[in-house]
Amino acid sequence: MKKYIEQIVSDVVRDVLSTSQNGPPFADRETYTIANWKMNQTIAEAKEYVKRLNIESENSNVIIAPPFPLLIPLKQWINQANLPVTLAAQNVHWEPKGAFTGEVSCTMLNDLGVTSVIIGHSERRASGETLDVVRKKVTQAVHHGLQVILCIGETMEERQAGKTVETVITQIVDATSELTNLSNIILAYEPVWAIGSGSSASPEQVEEIHAAIRNRLIETKGNEAGLISIVYGGSVNQENASSFARAKEVDGTLVGGASLDPTHFGKIVHAFSTEGRETQ
Ligand code: PGA
Repeated sequence: MKKYIEQIVSDVVRDVLSTSQNGPPFADRETYTIANWKMNQTIAEAKEYVKRLNIESENSNVIIAPPFPLLIPLKQWINQANLPVTLAAQNVHWEPKGAFTGEVSCTMLNDLGVTSVIIGHSERRASGETLDVVRKKVTQAVHHGLQVILCIGETMEERQAGKTVETVITQIVDATSELTNLSNIILAYEPVWAIGSGSSASPEQVEEIHAAIRNRLIETKGNEAGLISIVYGGSVNQENASSFARAKEVDGTLVGGASLDPTHFGKIVHAFSTEGRETQ
């Protein structure tokens, strides 16, 4: 009984703190579990994946970002299986059309019924995607009604130099500078050093950065900006997902490696569902 009361008190205190310092309580924000398949899965593998994916709509938004060639078949199988999943592209070009070999436009994604797009992933930034390019893509995508999963994150050198918050705020401010509001943006905080490394940031480290981002957005863009969802990505898996889901500043996750197994991804989705969060 004592433990139970202590838990309630600590939850209330956390809610009050998170309301006064970091904008609205987490229950008012949308939760997302997003699979980033990167350059993985064949048609046959993706088909099998959908057969084995066992999730229910648990008040969490589930998004899968497959490689471009899988968007059409995946959409069909997801519909047939009646799964509560929407699709994201992993990239998009900023021009509406033209001579851009190998690129895909926002209009093409609209045509396919793809509703979200990942922009600014560190693997793309590492291969030359500048702040300028990210901003142009974000602006164009929002203009086309796409929900943008904007990836931000610091390198190990930046963290060690004490520049984590400065780095991620610069990335956000620059990428969104041509938008009038952030209602179509999900922020994915992905420290570069945690991606694919097998060692995630700790939930405490993540909460600290998410809270700093949220506070800064509220200061600069007003209270509405506090409602933005900030998800964490970087070596999240079926074992550590619930420790992030418990963190009130974490509004979901962007998962790479562990999302390739439908059973593991299903467990991660459950951890971030309302029910999963409540039973922790
Ligand atoms: P990871 O990748 O889960 O394999 O670390 C995350 C990402 O790159 O989005």
